[in-house]
Parts: sequence; C-alpha cells; structure tokens
Amino acid sequence: MGPEIYYFSGTGNSLYVAKELQKRIRETKLIPIVSLLNKNLIESSSDTVGFVFPIHLAMAPAPVLEFLKKLDLKSAEYIFAIATRAGSQHRAFIDMENMLKKKGKGLNSFFSLNMPSNDPKFKDWKPSTEEETRKIESDVQNKLDKIQKIVLNKEKSREKDTEFITPMPAFSILSIFLPFLNRFYNVEFYADSKCKGCGTCENVCLSGKVKMVNGKPVWKKDIQCFYCHACLNYCPEHAVQIKSNRLLKSYTDKNERYSCPYATLHDIKRQKYG
Ligand SMILES: Cc1cc2nc3c(=O)[nH]c(=O)nc-3n(C[C@H](O)[C@H](O)[C@H](O)COP(=O)(O)O)c2cc1C
Repeated sequence: MGPEIYYFSGTGNSLYVAKELQKRIRETKLIPIVSLLNKNLIESSSDTVGFVFPIHLAMAPAPVLEFLKKLDLKSAEYIFAIATRAGSQHRAFIDMENMLKKKGKGLNSFFSLNMPSNDPKFKDWKPSTEEETRKIESDVQNKLDKIQKIVLNKEKSREKDTEFITPMPAFSILSIFLPFLNRFYNVEFYADSKCKGCGTCENVCLSGKVKMVNGKPVWKKDIQCFYCHACLNYCPEHAVQIKSNRLLKSYTDKNERYSCPYATLHDIKRQKYG
C-alpha cells in the first residue's frame, strides 16, 4: 500500500505541494482533512503517513491539530509533515510532535516550503510577481525532489530552518505563548457593495461558516472560522473583506487577492466531500 497524505488547503498552495508529491511517489493517496473532521475516530491504514498544511499565525491550522488528535496511527511506521508558509518561523512541528508522542509516535521528517502569502490584510502585502512566482515554483520543485527521496527511503530529516533546531531567541520566547495568543485571534469578514450574491464564498468555505441568506453571504457567529482565507481570495468581485478592529487595520479593500494558479475553487471546495 502506498503512502497516505492528509492535507488542508485554503488557497491551493498546500494542495499543489501534496499533488506534486503524489506525482513523485507511486500509489500515494491524497485525503482531505476537512472531509474527516466530523468523524470521532479516523483509522489510517498505511505504514507511511504525511501531512501537508499551511502555517497560520506561526502554528498549524486548528482543524489540522484537531484532526490529528482523532487519527489512529497504529500502522504508521514513517510519519512526515510539510508546512507551506509565506516565510516566517513557526512552531507547527513542535505541536505535532507533542501530539504524536501521546500516541507513541513521532515525526520522522518535516519540511517547510516558502510559498506566496494568501493573507492580503497587511499594508505592504502584494501578490508575488510572475518572476517571483517562477522562482518560488522552481525552489518548491527542487525541494520536492529531495523530499521524495527522503520519504521513499524513510530517512530521518528534521530541517534546520525552524526554531525547533536553531533557536531564534525572540521567536522562541514568543512561541511559548502562541497557542494562548492565537485563541484571541478573531478577525471578522464581510461582503461589501461589490458583492453580486454569486455564492462562491459559501461554496469554498471549509468550515461551513459562510451561508447565503437572501442572496448575500453571512458569516455565522456560532461556527468557528478556520481562517483559511478561501472566501476572501476566491471572491470574483474582491467583495469579501476583513474588518479592521482595535488591534488590526485591514487593507483588504485596497489589496489584490491570491490563490494558487494550479488549484481551482472546485479543488478547494472538494475537500469538504473527500
Ligand atoms: C490567517 C493566516 C495566517 C498566516 N500566518 C502565517 C504565518 O504565521 N507565517 C507564514 O509564514 N505564513 C503565514 N500565512 C501564509 C500561509 O501560510 C501561506 O500563504 C500558505 O502557503 C497558504 O497555503 P494554502 O494555500 O494551502 O492555504 C498565513 C495565512 C493565513 C490565511
């Protein structure tokens, strides 16, 4: 049996990486994490299991960690993780390692891939230029060639560019408080007057938070957002915005949007159904 790769992707970067790795490792099965979130127990049946996901606020996205808690990894002999990110340090692998330890397992290898940012709320945010995108793609392809060999040979490889191995003092101290700080992260979304009521935001919403009501999207208060930014980035009118609040001035009304050119909104939506 080939490897199983469980993935989560808001705007396609992580899906692209998962698919590219699937091309390199025969019989790899891609399994969307979102399609399994309502199950109480998920049994993995392969001896090689991988996770591919984006970094959110220097951590793995909450649904990925939630999923990991419920995953039975008894048959897994080799476990690896790939985080896609816009370039900052993170503690995703520490958290995963801690959770896996409780199951008597660990991460045999982990890798971080730098990719374009899908977070246009910041003042200086710009989508990457064509030239930058080409360079990112070629770096990702080269790194995936290395990852392919490591995974196929079931080698241990714990990358040196995370604070896990080479501590950056300021980040390491801050990183201790991240799980606590992230609980207070609560940005809100709305659709401005450009909204034509097409329902794309509801379609791509991975958490089920966006619902069309009387032809306009509503972000339901009782459903926890995954902050995947699919609604924001796939809206064809750029009508979905992040609200500014006391702590954050949002620039989504001025900025462009980003989604991975190799993933359609249909690919993102399909994660809900497996
Ligand atoms: C809410 C949010 C928070 C993010 N936080 C970080 C971060 O802390 N560090 C980082 O390098 N990238 C961060 N990013 C950028 C994404 O990790 C990056 O663009 C990723 O490749 C997106 O993958 P996806 O298209 O599969 O969702 C963040 C993105 C979002 C939406």
